[in-house]
Order: sequence, then C-alpha cells, then structure tokens
Amino acid sequence: MQEQLVDLQNQAKNDLAKAKSLKEIEEVRTSYLGRKGALNNIMKRIPGLSPEQKALIGKLANKLKVEIDRDVEEAIKRLDLTSEVPLVMKGEKTTAQDTGGVFDLTLPGKRKPYGHLHPITQTINEIKRIFCMLGFAVEYGPEVEQEYYNFDALNVPQEHPSREDFDTFYLDNKLLLRSQTSTVQIRIMEKKKPPVRMIAPGKVFRPDTVDARHASMFHQIEGLMVDEEVSFRDLKFVLTSFSEIYFGQDIKMRFRPSFFPFTEPSAEVDISCSICNAKGCSVCSYSGWVEVLGAGMVDPNVFEAVGYDPEKYTGFAFGLGVERLTMLRYGIDDIRLFFENDIRFLSQF
Ligand code: PHE
Repeated sequence: MQEQLVDLQNQAKNDLAKAKSLKEIEEVRTSYLGRKGALNNIMKRIPGLSPEQKALIGKLANKLKVEIDRDVEEAIKRLDLTSEVPLVMKGEKTTAQDTGGVFDLTLPGKRKPYGHLHPITQTINEIKRIFCMLGFAVEYGPEVEQEYYNFDALNVPQEHPSREDFDTFYLDNKLLLRSQTSTVQIRIMEKKKPPVRMIAPGKVFRPDTVDARHASMFHQIEGLMVDEEVSFRDLKFVLTSFSEIYFGQDIKMRFRPSFFPFTEPSAEVDISCSICNAKGCSVCSYSGWVEVLGAGMVDPNVFEAVGYDPEKYTGFAFGLGVERLTMLRYGIDDIRLFFENDIRFLSQF
C-alpha cells in the first residue's frame, strides 16, 4: 500500500504537468482527492489493517493529500490565466472564484443602497415648509433648560403637577430637560419686539412609562404669533390651513375647550381619524377623533413676563406632537418603532 501511495503521487504530478486549463487541473484534482478519487479508495481499506499499518498508512495518506493539494496550487500558478477569464454576460454573478482567481476590474460595481432622512425628520421638514408658506420663521431653543423658561415665565404656578419629579426630568443646578417646546416662545419674545410669527421644532422629555403611545423623548413643534389684533379666528385659520395642506381637504378639525397655564382661552385640537376614516379604531380609541395639538390665546401674564404690553398685543400659541402626526399620516400604531432603529421599518419611508 505504501508503494501504491507513492505511485499515486507520481501519477498525480504527471497528470498535473499535462493539464492545460483550470478545468483540466480541477479534473485531475477530483480524480485523486475527490470523494470517489484514488486516494479515498486507498483510505477505505485502512480500517482492515493492523494497528501499526493503520498509523503508518494514515499518516502517509494525509501527507499525500497535502502534497497533491500543493501541486495543484502550483499547477494553477503556472497557467496563463489571462486566457481563462470567461466572457461575463450582463447580470451574471461574478466572483474571483468564478473567474479562476482573476477579477475583471472593468465589471460594474455593487451598488450600495441610498440612505434617507428619518421619518420624524421628514415630517418636521414638511411642517416647516408649510408654516414657512404661511409666513412663520423657524427658531430653536436649548433642550437643557432653566425652570424659568419651562415653567415660571409660562405662568405655570409653583404647585402645578407638571413641575413634579414624575412629570419632568430634573438635572443638577436647577436645570431640567425641557418638557415642552413652549420654552422657545419665551426665549424669542425676550429677544424680539412684536410682530412675531415663529415655529420651534425640537425634542422634549417626559418621564412617562414607555408604551405604544408614550416615549420619554419625543418631538414637538411650537407655534407663536403675536401682533396687534391677533384673534382666535387667526389661530383657527392657520391651523385649519396647515391641516388641509398636511392631511388633505377631507380631514376635519375640531377645537375642544381645555386649559393650559400659558394660554387663555385654551383648546385641544383633534382631527378626524385618518386611519379608520373616523369610523372608530384602536388608534382613535373608537371615537373617530385624535388629539394632535394644544393651543390657545397667549395669557397676558406671559406677555408681562417678557415685557410685551398686554393691552396692545394679543397672540396665539400652539404645540403639536410630531410623532402623533406621522403615525396618523402613515397608519403607524406604535411610537416605539421610531426609536428602535430597525432598518426594515425605517426604509419604508
Ligand atoms: N406645551 C403644551 C404641551 O406640551 C402644548 C401647548 C403649546 C398648548 C402652546 C398651548 C399652547 O402640552
């Protein structure tokens, strides 16, 4: 058997020397090393040998395998591969392996998929565009705020529940993470004299328990218009125009009386549920209406805090929830999807 193995190696060497193409080399390789090849045929007889013979032949056979493999590699190196690159048709898969170790650099590359903006950013951009058409400027304020801007200047009384720990994230040094974008109203009015017409998009933070409708961080867009003789009529006109452009003419809007410390009178604004066509579904709690924003006429105390004359100026303010609007537009039923960074969800927008 030892002799047979030596013969085998010599034969393989001879055959490889004669092989003139990758295909032929591969044929030689399989005829010796393949499952039904010559080497395997010899190995099959090993179990019937004596223990000493087993060890000897086993060792030799392994060595042979390694050496034939090496000879095959060498035979491939000797070939002139430039003539071996097959003509590749459009759409055909090509790897260095298919072309025998040579890669055709002139082939078209693999395209990487384009990324795009997050759906929340897309909504914010669209809302900015709509309010710019209505003559509003875009302003920004800090996410880490002083209590003064988040509460005091907004006429929020000292004992108001929104000031509690369970409704606001407090940091050291009397700072907090803003719980509403209404802070930007104050910051802008401190800097500018009327007329003011602005929106302020941004992140807000609340220690809510996270579920399908709540997240501890979400986005709001604040709106503020101040001038002489601004009335509730103007507020209704601006918000209705916005809703018609954003959702289309078929969506209805309703104003419900409500309360906010910084507006008087105040309203909560619902739109007819776009997911079920106001017939009632889980998103609208089977009421046909979904709340999308809070609004009202700026409270005179707020004007006093920023040094505007409440006898001369009136204004309206509103704050809308960006996630809510995006969910209604696309029929998304879980707010957490926006923040999980799952490409399968995000790539749909
Ligand atoms: N800041 C209010 C909120 O977060 C919304 C609001 C803004 C209400 C402006 C009235 C006026 O709920």
